[in-house]
Amino acid sequence: MKSQSTTLNLRQNLATFIIMQTTAIKQIFLLLSVAFLLLTACKDQLVTEGTIVFPDSSVSYGSHIEPLFTTRCLGCHNGAYPPNLSPPSYSALVTYQPQLIIPGQGNNSLLVQLLDGRAAPIMPPSGEMLNQNQINGIKTWIDEGALNN
Ligand code: HEC
Repeated sequence: MKSQSTTLNLRQNLATFIIMQTTAIKQIFLLLSVAFLLLTACKDQLVTEGTIVFPDSSVSYGSHIEPLFTTRCLGCHNGAYPPNLSPPSYSALVTYQPQLIIPGQGNNSLLVQLLDGRAAPIMPPSGEMLNQNQINGIKTWIDEGALNN
């Protein structure tokens, strides 16, 4: 009888142990899934913030250029380095010397050349360049008259 109940106890202990293990594994798995979801969610958010997509025409200073400056340039151009691109930044940009913008001539404008690397120092000076769509968008905005639109 005694040995039988010991075996039973052992079995029960083993069963409890296995159940506890399974629960622990489930909990770890759940924690990992939550962590993974949080990480991917944050990453997605960063990508969306950094990716401002410009249209082929009718580029707007307020809807496209200023938000792009805010995400990609404000880290340094918030008063630390001129031009100060904190919103509203239009007048700081168009009155800056040396002249950054020749309305109607995007390709000849220093601003575009600083962004595509034809003029030094390339902007931003570290990290990823603006993408081709964004550089083209700024060029188009200048071609369209560099308006405060
Ligand atoms: C990591 C910091 C940093 C970031 C981000 C950055 N800049 Fe700059 N920028 C500088 C510094 C520093 C200078 C001054 C460089 C010098 O005079 O040699 C400068 C200078 C400039 C100038 C003046 C150039 C001249 O010839 O006087 C312009 C225009 C400019 N940046 C535009 C931008 C734009 C637009 C962005 C975003 C797309 C940007 N920068 C992002 C640090 C930064």
